[in-house]
Amino acid sequence: SWTMDAFIDTEIQRIRTIVGPVGQVVGAVSGGVDSTVAAKLMHEAIGDRFHAILVDNGVMRLNECASVKKMLGDKMGINIEVVDASALFLGRLAGVTDPERKRKIIGNTFIEVFEAEAAKIDKKTGGGKIEYLLQGTLYPDVIESISFKGPSATIKTHHVSRGASNTNLMSHQNVGGLLEDMKLKLIEPLRELFKDEVRALGTLLGLDDELVWRHPFPGPGIAIRVLGEVTPSQVEIARLADHIYIEEIKRAGYYRQISQAYAALLPVKAVGVMGDARTYEQVIALRAVETKDFMTADVFASAEWFLTLKKISSRIINEVKGVNRVVYDISSKPPATIEWE
Ligand code: XMP
Repeated sequence: SWTMDAFIDTEIQRIRTIVGPVGQVVGAVSGGVDSTVAAKLMHEAIGDRFHAILVDNGVMRLNECASVKKMLGDKMGINIEVVDASALFLGRLAGVTDPERKRKIIGNTFIEVFEAEAAKIDKKTGGGKIEYLLQGTLYPDVIESISFKGPSATIKTHHVSRGASNTNLMSHQNVGGLLEDMKLKLIEPLRELFKDEVRALGTLLGLDDELVWRHPFPGPGIAIRVLGEVTPSQVEIARLADHIYIEEIKRAGYYRQISQAYAALLPVKAVGVMGDARTYEQVIALRAVETKDFMTADVFASAEWFLTLKKISSRIINEVKGVNRVVYDISSKPPATIEWE
């Protein structure tokens, strides 16, 4: 549209003016629409002086890091560094079952790894030239963090902590160090936009539909979708089940109608039968919701969808070792939430 075209030009000019002719910028990317659109704008504005950092936290989806690196690096030409910190994250998550502790560990470790990588890049570029941190903050995030400091702090604290994505570093408590030690200033090109506007912007900037319409994925990733303790083998089960689920959703043409879908691994075992023998294995819960703002959500449901679910269920049980039962979560939000943890 006319206004979006104008927005792109104005924003690129604004970024160039702020960063100047030699300044360098760092930013976290995840492959999600917000951080990718922000990165694309920054790349258009300053090219290789923008450094994207992708942290592999060990709880991302199947092949996710490799495909994000391919898309942003090879396809879009963005300067991107992938840091494999999966062993560090999984080590710190060992033995932890409380969902809020999982979130804290992942958030804090993320800041630590990101800061170390940013310092490395700073050294490589001569030292002291990285002055800015790119953030894909949207207008609703801005509102949320303002009300976070307001009178309804108790409700909002919970809300903000659940909403703390990895790339939105400001939503983490320990980000102060990053901004103070490295003296980074924030650049937030999307801070006046709503989600649908960011999608339109992404399309105008030439990003693939696949990316523009991607379902949101929480910062703590699969760690909050493996209920109870997060071990590498549990992550593997949840990851594979989720991959099959999303693949079948896309194949059946439901991806755009569903706002968010994922598979969770429940911390229970159930009895099953295979041939003459009994099995005693784990349960996968499938979730699919329709929502406008993620504050309330409806279960995605129809007779045809149920038939697709039956097919997905048998694929998961046949292909994912350790799973002998699949259930579909039919709760709305509220009172249930979208995630199980
Ligand atoms: P809930 O479970 O609160 O989820 O109904 C609402 C939306 O927020 C996402 N979510 C998170 N996103 N960090 C994130 O970046 C989190 O800790 C987190 N917890 C929930 C969830 O996927 C849904 O889109």
